[in-house]
Amino acid sequence: MLTLEKVNAGYGHSHVLHDVDLEFGDNQIVALMGRNGVGKTTTFNAIMGLVPVTSGRILFDGHDLTRLPARSAALLGIGFVPQGRRIFPEFTVMENLRVGTRSGRVPSDALDWIFALFPRLKERVSQAGGSLSGGEQQMLAVGRALAMQPRLILMDEPMEGLSPGMAEVVRQAIVEARNKGVRILIIEQDIDEALALAQDIHIMEKGSIQVHCRPQALQQDPTILERHLGIRL
Ligand SMILES: Nc1ncnc2c1ncn2[C@@H]1O[C@H](COP(=O)(O)OP(=O)(O)OP(=O)(O)O)[C@@H](O)[C@H]1O
Ligand SMILES: [Mg+2]
Repeated sequence: MLTLEKVNAGYGHSHVLHDVDLEFGDNQIVALMGRNGVGKTTTFNAIMGLVPVTSGRILFDGHDLTRLPARSAALLGIGFVPQGRRIFPEFTVMENLRVGTRSGRVPSDALDWIFALFPRLKERVSQAGGSLSGGEQQMLAVGRALAMQPRLILMDEPMEGLSPGMAEVVRQAIVEARNKGVRILIIEQDIDEALALAQDIHIMEKGSIQVHCRPQALQQDPTILERHLGIRL
């Protein structure tokens, strides 16, 4: 699966990630947590080849992504749901779904599944992405990742800013994707959400992983949350 070994990365002269180690292992859903600005999104950008990795390795199914061109993560089967959705507002829903696929076509069983998870997208298939509500755009961002039939999806705060109803639709899609065997690495700020979904938790501070534990450990020792996330239960 996915392994990060002593990954260093950043933007220009700003060195953000310091020796990040993360092993996805046999888990189905792994959560990456941490306060604002610690480097969670940058970790995803490094995996997707969107920021330069200055040292360290990112291995996915035996391939070292740091030695391959930027699009390789996607081509090798890593889907990406970026923070703030980033759908193409001028493109229709269908065009947005096609964007991430290798052939420019969404395989029909993938499309059927996406529309079963998100009937709203089917109703709005010819509408411009920018005309959708925030929740619908998030469905589209998840649908776009699923359209490429990934083995692993990186989801950056997929429930952020959604109404409870919309968040539930996205949560259900995550659970169904997991049940179909898609692995998910999720950045999640909501501790209850992370504990409910993930089998393994990594907490970042100042650009490196400071805590790696099972959710049960956080439930048994809330002081970890207080020390590393500033959360009081
Ligand atoms: N495009 C960029 N150019 C320069 N610096 C950036 C850029 N994006 C992020 N940074 C900086 O890198 C650091 C880590 O940012 P990152 O977005 O990875 O944090 P994060 O943990 O995802 O935060 P949040 O919880 O707010 O999403 C921050 O200091 C941020 O200001
Ligand atoms: Mg972020």
